[in-house]
Amino acid sequence: MKTVLVTGGAGFIGSNFVRYLLRVEPSVKIVNFDALTYAGTLENLKGLPDNGRHVFVRGDICDRPLVDKLLREHTVDTIAHFAAESHVDRSIHGPGLFVQTNIVGTQVMLDAARQAWLVDKIVEPAATRFHHVSTDEVFGSLKPKDPAFTETTSYDPSSPYSASKAASDHLVRAYARTYGLPVTITNCSNNYGPHQFPEKLIPLMILNGINGRPLPVYGDGQQIRDWLYVEDHCEAIRAILKNGRTGETYNIGGDNQPPNLDIVHGICALLDELLPASPHRPHTSLIQHVTDRPGHDRRYAMNITKVKTELGWTPRHSLQTGLRATVQWYLDHPEWVAAIQQQAGYQQWIDRNYAKRGGK
Ligand code: NAD
Ligand code: DAU
Repeated sequence: MKTVLVTGGAGFIGSNFVRYLLRVEPSVKIVNFDALTYAGTLENLKGLPDNGRHVFVRGDICDRPLVDKLLREHTVDTIAHFAAESHVDRSIHGPGLFVQTNIVGTQVMLDAARQAWLVDKIVEPAATRFHHVSTDEVFGSLKPKDPAFTETTSYDPSSPYSASKAASDHLVRAYARTYGLPVTITNCSNNYGPHQFPEKLIPLMILNGINGRPLPVYGDGQQIRDWLYVEDHCEAIRAILKNGRTGETYNIGGDNQPPNLDIVHGICALLDELLPASPHRPHTSLIQHVTDRPGHDRRYAMNITKVKTELGWTPRHSLQTGLRATVQWYLDHPEWVAAIQQQAGYQQWIDRNYAKRGGK
């Protein structure tokens, strides 16, 4: 791992990964390749450690000539593929872009890697790795007593987002089996932490709570996610890039699965404590149950035995410490929040997704 091409490195997890890798791998160079869609911003890349080892290139993963050029120009030996359309609700409003970015874009990246590494051999093929960052949502929804998802659970995606990620996972495995591309895949549960775009549950609730806006809980709020602090996810990906077996898939998760309503109550309690003079206390008074998400998966849970036993990775942050650090980060970064919320399209998205949901 000398030169890592990180796709989607200006987004939430990608930018945390870039920051983390620069800190813990002092000899690695990073080429950060991101289209800067609504979800990606250079605000996420301010103040990187050792910025001299980081090059940012704005571009689209579907642009094959550009991907070919970047792999050669920088002699890339490792690809960490994060770039995607990532929000389930947006995939319900507009699935086409998810097919283009998540399926077509992943195939472009795979084929460019195959050509550069296995055909043109720009670097020793044995020293290369294509790591695909995927999601637990490919497995669909669990019933209350079902065992947690393992790496061999059948795919059963529910949303256009998860279906597009499932398709991209299949393409990654097809490139490994057909062409011998050295790949690894991680299927990870819900991440949270600094720099997450405030369309996702946790940052949306934090910012709405700070501003005294309603906290829109879909349906009964008893849906279950497996929450993981983003830096723990970054550590897992690094462990797999270094010591994971090629051709393998690893499940990553936080080993804690509270219902959504508990998460929202936890955020409200933290805001009550950290903002003692707020006129919106108690913040739980802002909670509103609104119309549910169509096709809403009820429960996810990840069995992470494989990554624990093979690679010794385990999440370091509890939900309690991670949530506190996250709420504090949003309180401490009003300039980041303002830049994101003032961006064209943010308020339109909020209006589009929530205006017709009403309260229940
Ligand atoms: P994000 O939406 O915050 O960031 C996505 C990034 O990809 C943005 O910077 C965006 O500009 C970039 N991008 C989008 N289309 C692009 C294109 N065509 N070309 C180049 N760049 C493009 O997403 P995230 O939450 O950071 O998720 C990153 C990856 O991790 C995704 O593949 C997602 O499916 C996966 N994942 C996310 C979670 C989670 O909880 N957020 C959990 C498991 C897996
Ligand atoms: O499980 C991994 C996935 O987690 C990732 O692959 C996705 O990229 C990521 O967006 C996330 O998907 P979710 O749909 O689980 O995340 P979201 O934050 O959108 O929603 C979390 C839960 O909270 C879900 O049950 C829906 C609910 N929710 C969400 C929003 C935005 C609400 O109740 N109200 C809301 O306003």
